[in-house]
Amino acid sequence: MNDLAQLIAAAESDFAAAPTPAELENAKARFLGKAGRVTELLKALGALPLEEKKTRGAEINQAKLRIEGALNARRDALAEAELNKQLQAEALDVTLPGRQRGGGSLHPVSRTIERIEAIFASMGFDVAEGPEIETDWMSFTALNNPENHPARSMQDTFYVDMKDEQGRWLNLRPHTSPMQVRYARIHAARNAGVKPMPEVRVIAPGRVFRVDSDATHSPMFHQIEGLWLGENVSFKDLKVVFAALVREFFETDDFDVRFRPSFFPFTEPSAEIDIRFGSGPLAGKWLEVAGSGQVHPNVVRNFGLDPEAQIGFAFGIGADRFAMLRYGIDDLRLMFDGDLRFLSQFA
Ligand code: DAH
Repeated sequence: MNDLAQLIAAAESDFAAAPTPAELENAKARFLGKAGRVTELLKALGALPLEEKKTRGAEINQAKLRIEGALNARRDALAEAELNKQLQAEALDVTLPGRQRGGGSLHPVSRTIERIEAIFASMGFDVAEGPEIETDWMSFTALNNPENHPARSMQDTFYVDMKDEQGRWLNLRPHTSPMQVRYARIHAARNAGVKPMPEVRVIAPGRVFRVDSDATHSPMFHQIEGLWLGENVSFKDLKVVFAALVREFFETDDFDVRFRPSFFPFTEPSAEIDIRFGSGPLAGKWLEVAGSGQVHPNVVRNFGLDPEAQIGFAFGIGADRFAMLRYGIDDLRLMFDGDLRFLSQFA
C-alpha cells in the first residue's frame, strides 16, 4: 500500500471513529486543515522536478477528493443519526384513537325552565330574574308574612350572617315570591301617573333555598314565580293559563287540573294546584305542582299599587317537579349530584 492509500485509510478510520460532529471537525483538521497531512504533502510538491510534480500532484488531489468524500459521508451519517434520535424522542403513535369531545347538553331543569319560559312568553308574560340573597322585607314582610310565621324560622330559611346597608338581615331566598315585589314595584314606579295602569304579567324563574334534604327535598331547588295583575284578572284566568301551560309542556290534552284550598300569607284565597294525567305511567294520581292564589291587598299595596284597582293572581311552580314528571325521574337528588351517567341521558 503506498503512502497515499495509507493516508486515505487513516482518514477513513479517524472519521468513522469520531462520535460527534465536533470531533469529526477535529479529525478533518488533522488531514485537510492548514497544518493537516494532505496540506503538508501539497506543500512538499514544490521541491520536486516538474514531471514528478505533475503526477504526484494529481495523485495527492485524487487522495484529497477521496478523503473529502469520506468526510462528507461521515457528516451525513452523523446528521442522520442525530435526526433519528430526535424523531424517536418525539415519536407520535398515530395508531392511538383520537380524543373524543364529550357532547355537552342542557341540564333537564334548565331545559324545563326554558320550555316554561317560552310557553309563558307566548301568552304575553315577561321573564325576570332577581337576586338569590334577599332581605327580610322582600322575602317575608312585603309578602304579608306575620313576624312569627314559621317560614321565617331558622328551620326553613338559610339566614346569611350579615346585614345590608340599612341594617336588614339577609337570607337565601326560600322562594321566588320576592320577585313579585321587585318586579311590581319597578312596574309601579315606571308607570306612575299612567291611567289606566298597564297590566303586570311576569314569570320569574330561579334557585331557592331551604334547610331540607331527602328524596323529594333538596336544600337548593328551582321555582318559577308568576304574577298577573290587572283591572279584571281573576281565578278563572289562572285556570286557563295553568291548563295551557300543562297542555303545552306535557304535550297532552289528557289531564285534569284541581285547585285545592290552602294557605299562603300573600294570597287570599289560596290554592295548591294539582294535576292528574289520564294516561301514561303516572295516570290517575293527583300530583301537586304549584301554589297559587289571589294576591292579598296588603301585598298589592307593598307593590306600590292600588288594591282597589289592581287585582289578580300569583303562583309558584316547582320547576324541578315539572322536570321530574316530564322525564320520569323519581329522586330529586339525582338532578343535583352532577353524575354524568345520569346527565348524559339528556344529551
Ligand atoms: N312561595 C310559595 C312557596 O314557596 C309558593 C307560592 C304559593 C307562590 C302561592 C305564589 C302563590 O305566588 O301565590 O311555597
